[in-house]
Amino acid sequence: MAARFRHPVNGAAAARPAAVDGTADQSAALDGGASRATAVDATADRPAAPEAAASGGAAAEVRGLSRAFDGRPVLADVDLRIESGEFVALLGRSGSGKSTLLRVLAGLDREAEGTVAASDSAMVAFQEPRLLPWKRVWANIALGLDGTAPKEAAVAALGEVGLADHADAWPLTLSGGEAQRASLARALVREPELLLLDEPFGALDALTRITMHDLVLHLWRRHLPGVLLVTHDVDEALLLADRVLVLADGRIAHEEHIGLPRPRHRDADALLHARDRLLAVLGVHPTGDR
Ligand SMILES: Nc1ncnc2c1ncn2[C@@H]1O[C@H](COP(=O)(O)OP(=O)(O)OP(=O)(O)O)[C@@H](O)[C@H]1O
Ligand SMILES: [Mg+2]
Repeated sequence: MAARFRHPVNGAAAARPAAVDGTADQSAALDGGASRATAVDATADRPAAPEAAASGGAAAEVRGLSRAFDGRPVLADVDLRIESGEFVALLGRSGSGKSTLLRVLAGLDREAEGTVAASDSAMVAFQEPRLLPWKRVWANIALGLDGTAPKEAAVAALGEVGLADHADAWPLTLSGGEAQRASLARALVREPELLLLDEPFGALDALTRITMHDLVLHLWRRHLPGVLLVTHDVDEALLLADRVLVLADGRIAHEEHIGLPRPRHRDADALLHARDRLLAVLGVHPTGDR
């Protein structure tokens, strides 16, 4: 793994501007992604088999990670390793610290304590697509992109998510699902070794979510980044991930390995059992029939 940083992160001054609105986070992620993209060969050490997690290293690893806000602990001694090419989903109750963990992995929070090693080429997609409204869609994708033909690369990435026809559109003319696909294209155009997704489908309708699940799996198989998907949707986690984690009391409190090949059926026995265990850990006790 080409590590962005492998050192205790505590005490480092915030290296990036505080997010006042969506664009501060976005530009931090984009700046980092662009400069990092030159530092690694993102295609190296990729596993050949799409379904298999890679054996040759991790996309991200944290050890003993703790983060408190105003003296209130949110993350307490978290250990987490995401293998290269592995798809990990992270569940947890609201306020449990999922986004906090993701932000540390993204390099957007340098005030946590512990050891963090994350791929140099990590990219983030948030629940809100965070496209810059004054730049055309292709220019949002190409923002900060190195290389001789950034527009061509951006348009190709938009083609991968089915948006080639919208390359010259303004972001505000996109539907919610289209904007989220553009956000994925922006992350993937840099061929990240680590893709961090913070509830990327949370604001989408049910049908669009299903389409997005297929798209994300397709893109993951094609590019094979390590993925950390933060979601509230247990079924989404079970359908997509190799491993489903639950964050509770500041720690990874539960882990489910999902060995089923994809595409998965949500009523598969193994998923139903895993779903029950996950809901129990999350403190949800379904009463109705399935
Ligand atoms: N910059 C900050 N300053 C103060 N408190 C913060 C800050 N960022 C997060 N917190 C607090 O840390 C806790 C965890 O927040 P976080 O956003 O990580 O939760 P989450 O698990 O992502 O929740 P949700 O599912 O609602 O998105 C919350 O209580 C939140 O208020
Ligand atoms: Mg969150």
